[in-house]
Amino acid sequence: MNRRTLIQRGIQLGLGTLASTALPGAHAVAASGKRGEPVATETTGKGALKAVAAARGLLLGCAVDTTLMRQDAAYQAALREQFNCVVGENCMKFGPTQPQPGTYFFDDADALVRFAEENHMKIRGHNFVWHEAKPAWLDATLTRENAASILTNHIRTVGGRYRGKVHSWDVVNEAIWLEDGRPDGLRTASPWFQTLGEQYLALAFRTAHETDPKALLTYNEYGIESDSDSESRKRAATLALLKRLKAAGVPVHALGVQSHLRAGSPASYAKGAAELTQGAQELGLKLFVTEMDVKDDSLESDNIAVRDAAVASVYSTYLDAMLQSKATHAVLTWGVSDAHTWLNRGTRFREKHPTRKQRPLLLDDADAPKPAFYAMRQSLWQASKR
Ligand code: G3I
Repeated sequence: MNRRTLIQRGIQLGLGTLASTALPGAHAVAASGKRGEPVATETTGKGALKAVAAARGLLLGCAVDTTLMRQDAAYQAALREQFNCVVGENCMKFGPTQPQPGTYFFDDADALVRFAEENHMKIRGHNFVWHEAKPAWLDATLTRENAASILTNHIRTVGGRYRGKVHSWDVVNEAIWLEDGRPDGLRTASPWFQTLGEQYLALAFRTAHETDPKALLTYNEYGIESDSDSESRKRAATLALLKRLKAAGVPVHALGVQSHLRAGSPASYAKGAAELTQGAQELGLKLFVTEMDVKDDSLESDNIAVRDAAVASVYSTYLDAMLQSKATHAVLTWGVSDAHTWLNRGTRFREKHPTRKQRPLLLDDADAPKPAFYAMRQSLWQASKR
């Protein structure tokens, strides 16, 4: 019996502490969530995240690496057991889907859609328009004269292929960057802004709505979650952008809050979450937590239990705040387990501990539930009682 199964067996028998001591290197695995309220001892079936989320009518999902989805049985099992929604980590982005001008590649995105449909999961599309994940040809080709047709052709082709299959699309990703100095906070270092100005946003959303009228069209942003001054300013600029778009009759239906957070910082989220949920409600927007993970690189301790507890605490604090409001309709993490998190690819995101693998997600590198799993599940359970 492998370690993961033994832990789960231990939990199912209500032997959480035994499970955590019975296994060499096992980490403290609480049999129930924080605050001592038992949700369930098992972590699949009625104890799975998606089951607890369903009681609140929430989408509960994660970003998917389609190579692993095709090849890794444990990865597939974790997806099926825990989540009712998937988003391609990369497979539906501009570069991967249009690697050459007018030449499209859909094998990976088609595989994701097939997997989701076979497993009765909702699909989030990510993303049509972004300043990253561009194909090599785009910057060299885009001009003021051809940018609108390149943008609309791309959205019509990719969005059209999955028309009626996608719950929501991240139409525009990360258009706010205050450091570029504009009063409206728009990111100027974007080929779309450079060629089309602010109008690229309305054009993208309008084209996406014409292409797939059923999809919920989402503006997706990061660094707008906490109460800090800088994130408060970016949040205000984001909400102001959405207000302008809605006032112009642009079809935007949701705000995606990426939620790439960090353990060990004195961050608080009460004000941030209140402004996000209030702002969304005033604009008639749904809120999606679209890419949640919690970096632990800045934590001094190398003790796994200490690090996992700090990460779990951020999941609790943040989700408790965001799930206060019924405006929050979805929670997705950016990855399935620590084994494959983007945060451990290279050392760019491991400034303090470049040789230490981060543990930002709900499942550890053997797909076993971590304290963060129980923390999220407890927050979901509490939300279902509201
Ligand atoms: O698939 C190719 C592989 O064939 C090649 O050998 C390798 C080396 O060049 O690159 C591989 O593609 C990489 C891809 O991830 C798959 O690993 C790209 O270079 C790399 O740029 C890409 O990074 C992704 C990044 O977005 C940029 O698109 C990350 O996986 C992905 O987790 C990250 O996700 C973003 C969200 O889309 C938006 N919000 C922030 C989030 C984290 O940055």
